[in-house]
Amino acid sequence: MGNILHIISSARGEASNSIMLGNRIVEKLQQRHPGKELVTIDVTRQPYEQLHGELVTAYRTPQPSLTDAQQRLLQVSDEAVAQLMAADIIVIGVPLYNFQMPAALKAWIDHIVRPSKTVAYKDGMPAGLLSGQKAYLAIASNGIYSEGPMSPYDFAEPYLRYILGFLGITDVSTYRIEGAGMTATRDTAVAKGLASVESV
Ligand SMILES: Cc1cc2nc3c(=O)[nH]c(=O)nc-3n(C[C@H](O)[C@H](O)[C@H](O)COP(=O)(O)O)c2cc1C
Repeated sequence: MGNILHIISSARGEASNSIMLGNRIVEKLQQRHPGKELVTIDVTRQPYEQLHGELVTAYRTPQPSLTDAQQRLLQVSDEAVAQLMAADIIVIGVPLYNFQMPAALKAWIDHIVRPSKTVAYKDGMPAGLLSGQKAYLAIASNGIYSEGPMSPYDFAEPYLRYILGFLGITDVSTYRIEGAGMTATRDTAVAKGLASVESV
């Protein structure tokens, strides 16, 4: 039985809507799958450095040829990949920042997309090496993006669906607390988002 991996990426701690929504999804999943271990990673507190030349070279070096220095360099990424592979359910909290995911969450993505570990290339075509995992996106935003005029401008959800699919994770559901910064929806946004999790 795999773990539940809860990735959080909000800088707002206890005030965070994406963490609250993700926690509610996790609670529902734990009710349905009692005994599953929960692993929570706050990517804002992890040393996921930006990709640089040595790291990218190490990513592309076959395991037997890695130097000791390259193996040390890869430790953080290896750990993130191991956490991902040990999970069969992944809940990703996504605060919408400037119409995208936070840079800390993108940094996590850059550490889990690994040649030969999570994605392989056959005849030049990518093939995700993960399968059978279920992902939930818990997205928080001040505006409304699930429908209406702003719906083309949430670049986080389509990207996350694409990159997860690239790795082989194609079963992805989205839940939202949205409109929390708009006069008409401010008072109901959180309750509406949390209520939607009943369908998990
Ligand atoms: C740097 C920054 C950029 C933001 N950009 C957007 C945005 O593009 N669209 C939007 O609807 N809300 C935006 N917001 C509001 C957040 O999405 C909102 O506060 C959300 O609740 C953040 O998630 P959290 O509560 O989990 O931290 C932004 C907030 C911050 C701090």
